[in-house]
Amino acid sequence: MAKVVPSLLSADIVNLRGILSDFKMAGIDWLHIDVMDGHFVPNLSFGPQIVSPIKRFGNFLLDVHLMVEQPERFIDSFVNAGADIVTVHLEATPHIHRIISYIRSLGCKAGVSINPGTPVRLLEDIITEVDLTLIMSVDPGFGGQGFIPNTFKKISDLKNLCKTLEANPIIEVDGGINNHNIEELLEYGVDMLVIGSTITNSKDRKKAISDIENIIKGHNRGEYNIPLEKAGEGYG
Ligand code: DX5
Ligand code: ZN
Repeated sequence: MAKVVPSLLSADIVNLRGILSDFKMAGIDWLHIDVMDGHFVPNLSFGPQIVSPIKRFGNFLLDVHLMVEQPERFIDSFVNAGADIVTVHLEATPHIHRIISYIRSLGCKAGVSINPGTPVRLLEDIITEVDLTLIMSVDPGFGGQGFIPNTFKKISDLKNLCKTLEANPIIEVDGGINNHNIEELLEYGVDMLVIGSTITNSKDRKKAISDIENIIKGHNRGEYNIPLEKAGEGYG
C-alpha cells in the first residue's frame, strides 16, 4: 500500500507534541522533514536540532528533504540527529554521485530529488544508486502551493527509466497533494505521498489521514507495504 508521509513544514510548531501524537494515533510511521537554506529555495525552515527530539518522541522514520545548496555540508549532522533517509536535490550539487555514496556509507538511505523544471532523463546516471527518488510537484520552498499537473508525465517518465535500467527506487511525490489528486498519483504508481497542509491545516488531523488512507485502500485492495528495505537492493 502507498504510504502517507506527513510534512511538518506548515505545522504549528507550538503544538508539535499534539500533532505528533495525532500522527502516532493515526498509525503514521514516517515523517518528512523539510530543510531550507534561503538560497536553494526562497525560504528557511528546520535544522538538525529538530530531528532528534522528534525521533525520541515518536520513533518515526525520518525522511529528511534537503533543499539546500552544497548539501554535503549537512549530511553528517542530520544523520547523527537520527535521519533514516536523506534526500538531496540533483540541482543543488555538481557531485550527486559522491553525496549519494557518502550518505549510504553512513548506513543511511539516500534519495535524489528533482524540481518541476528538471527533466527525469537527468536522473539516468544516478537512479540505480539511490534508495528513493523524490519528484517535486511544486517549486519547492513553501507549503500550500498548487500541484503541477505535468508531474504525472514525470512519474511515468521515471517509471520508464527505472524499467529500462532495472532500478527500483521508492518513488515519492511532494507538494500540493490533496484528496483530489491522490487517486491519480496512485494510478501512476507512486509509493510515498508527502502531504503537508492537507493534513496539518485540517481541524481533525486524524480524520484527514484516515480519509487519505481510505482513498489509498479503495484504490489498492491487496496488501502491499513498502518496507524501508525495498529499494536499493543489489546496489551495494
Ligand atoms: C515544499 C516542501 C513540501 C511541503 C509540502 O517545498 O518540500 O514537503 O511541505 O506541503 P504541501 O503538501 O502543503 O504542498
Ligand atoms: Zn519536502
